[in-house]
Amino acid sequence: MPRRNKIALIGAGNIGGELAALCARNELGDVVLFDIPEKEGLAKGKALDLEQNGAVLGTDAAITGTSNWADCAGADVVIITAGVPRKPGMSRDDLLSINLKIIRNVGENLKKHCPDAFVIVVSNPLDVMVYELRRVTGFPGGKVVGMAGVLDAGRFQLFLAREAKVAVKDVRAMVLGGHGDTMVPVISYCTVDGIPVRQLIAADKLAAIVERTRNGGGEIVKLMGTSAYYAPASAAITMATSYLRDQKRLLPCAAQLNGEYGFEDLYLGVPVVIGGSGVEKVVTIELSADEKAMLDKSAAAVRELIEASKKL
Ligand code: NAI
Ligand code: 2OP
Repeated sequence: MPRRNKIALIGAGNIGGELAALCARNELGDVVLFDIPEKEGLAKGKALDLEQNGAVLGTDAAITGTSNWADCAGADVVIITAGVPRKPGMSRDDLLSINLKIIRNVGENLKKHCPDAFVIVVSNPLDVMVYELRRVTGFPGGKVVGMAGVLDAGRFQLFLAREAKVAVKDVRAMVLGGHGDTMVPVISYCTVDGIPVRQLIAADKLAAIVERTRNGGGEIVKLMGTSAYYAPASAAITMATSYLRDQKRLLPCAAQLNGEYGFEDLYLGVPVVIGGSGVEKVVTIELSADEKAMLDKSAAAVRELIEASKKL
């Protein structure tokens, strides 16, 4: 008998709550909103509020709040936001030691309760968290991805659209590399409906937009005192939807690399195709010498953090 998809959201904080709202509104499946025992009331309260929201809107997803891993059993998709977000003045890397412990605990539980899930990691520092989650679970690389590129590309697209005074949906942009200050917004692949942005935006303005994109997360942390959650949630839902509906979207994601772009045993933001079996393909694109050098630098920064994580 057909059954509804089950989506487990690990972390019921700002992004977790917005993820649950989007799952319900888009009727992606039933939702389990999981948090630690001290936050079970928050998870249950958000779940109930969202079920009542569905009653008002006329959507019908079962949403459960819990701190019991057994309730996540058999999830088709797991999205992990468990951890601590950045506070003003804190870099993503400062989060490493706190969030590493949390991701290891989550990984051990996923192995037991959700062995067949497609797992999307959101917690920061993103590239290390997704690497560690895959290592701890031993899941196939194609079933564990990190969300960053869809968000970073969205920010890049917005800033380009505003500068070119065009609709944001006509702008396509690519951001590769780690989700940090070394991320690589790839101007040579940015277009407005096929027209290279270099023909529409002056070089100095483009350089400023690249810089603003690199600092896109920090800009919001400075304003709100915590990190962004609407756009991050939408980005993760875009990836989950591509998996659940076998859409085969080509999306920049932190994916496991086995030789692609010259990197082994690493998670890094690259274009991938997400379909019903997970990451179905890592797409290798041609990069200019400058872009490849930036990607190498970004990969080295991620590698350094992975090595640091091995000592913790
Ligand atoms: P939040 O603080 O609102 O929510 C995090 C939740 O995780 C809290 O409710 C906390 O109790 C829970 N948690 C802690 N330990 C847990 C455990 N062992 N099991 C289950 N839940 C646990 O934070 P927010 O704003 O939702 O951000 C979540 C993470 O996402 C942060 O690490 C943040 O830096 C990251 N982030 C990543 C982005 C990306 O592009 N990859 C973008 C924005 C945020
Ligand atoms: C963001 O990019 C801080 O990673 C977080 O919004």
